[in-house]
Amino acid sequence: MSFAEPLHDIAHLGGIELFTPRFERSLWYFHDLLGMEVVHRNGSSAYLRGWGDHSVSTLKLTSADRPGVGCIAWRTVSPQALERRAEAITADGLAIGWTNGDFGRGRSFRFCDPDGHLMELYFEEQKYDPPARLRSALKNQPQKYTGRGVGVRRTDHLALLAADVGRNRRFAESTLGFQLREQVLFEQGKREIGSWMSPNAIHHQLAYVADVKGGHGRLHHISMWVDNREDVLRAADILVENAIFVEAGPSKHNNSQGFYLYSYEPGGNRVEIYSGSYLVLAPDWRPVTWNEEERGSGTYWGAPLPESFIQYATPDIEPPGRKSDSLDLPVFF
Ligand SMILES: [Fe+2]
Repeated sequence: MSFAEPLHDIAHLGGIELFTPRFERSLWYFHDLLGMEVVHRNGSSAYLRGWGDHSVSTLKLTSADRPGVGCIAWRTVSPQALERRAEAITADGLAIGWTNGDFGRGRSFRFCDPDGHLMELYFEEQKYDPPARLRSALKNQPQKYTGRGVGVRRTDHLALLAADVGRNRRFAESTLGFQLREQVLFEQGKREIGSWMSPNAIHHQLAYVADVKGGHGRLHHISMWVDNREDVLRAADILVENAIFVEAGPSKHNNSQGFYLYSYEPGGNRVEIYSGSYLVLAPDWRPVTWNEEERGSGTYWGAPLPESFIQYATPDIEPPGRKSDSLDLPVFF
């Protein structure tokens, strides 16, 4: 059996920048309703963290004309790994170049994935030093659990849309070193609908799914972790009581076995509250592939995902010259 030496140059998802046309309302959603802390503000951006995030900030909210995803940051395992991945990305022709780093981070290497999503790699980061009011009684916990709102523990993953899922999946595997965990392949494996990948034991930190509207650089959702299913149910109560649109769930996916709830934050971006799932520790993991029949509705149980789950992403666009409802994609995630 052939076995390619795994690449372990990327450690984890470091942070996601989210664009919002309703900045103060989005900030209210993430701070008051999801229970995240604001650690820094500058210009048109605010930097937030979950109580269990070890990085100083994992979510950057930026005021913009339209919702969508900004820069997606990945932390490397070492300064040497950062240099190695920068060289590999440059060889792929996708480099943008070096920056001095965003808030809380050192020198960073910016690039685009093949679909055009902006990303960056960094190694150096500022350690989180909580103010006295947020210091935990537990030495090994980065911040006090405040119990405010949903109380999300950390930023877990994100799902991006791509015009060519296979091309982006190959880039993530071969150039970034991510491990493919699960895949949806139609037409006897000829049509790649979605791929779920990770650089670490978390089931997936990055997913690419086919963009039914033929766009580029779009966001399907970001996902925030809570420790148990009861927290997901409680999140549904909190969000509905605050007039937040709940699109789907709480229910359980077949792929990833995740227990989910999808809402739209006030800026229009889809945000998942997520728990369950499973870890993958095997270096020779065999990706799980689902075909049309096996995939079904994308849910293990619970109500089917609505049509908006396929059609809506940020920024929202009109399908170019075709009726999007003629496309035969099922729902997934
Ligand atoms: Fe997700």
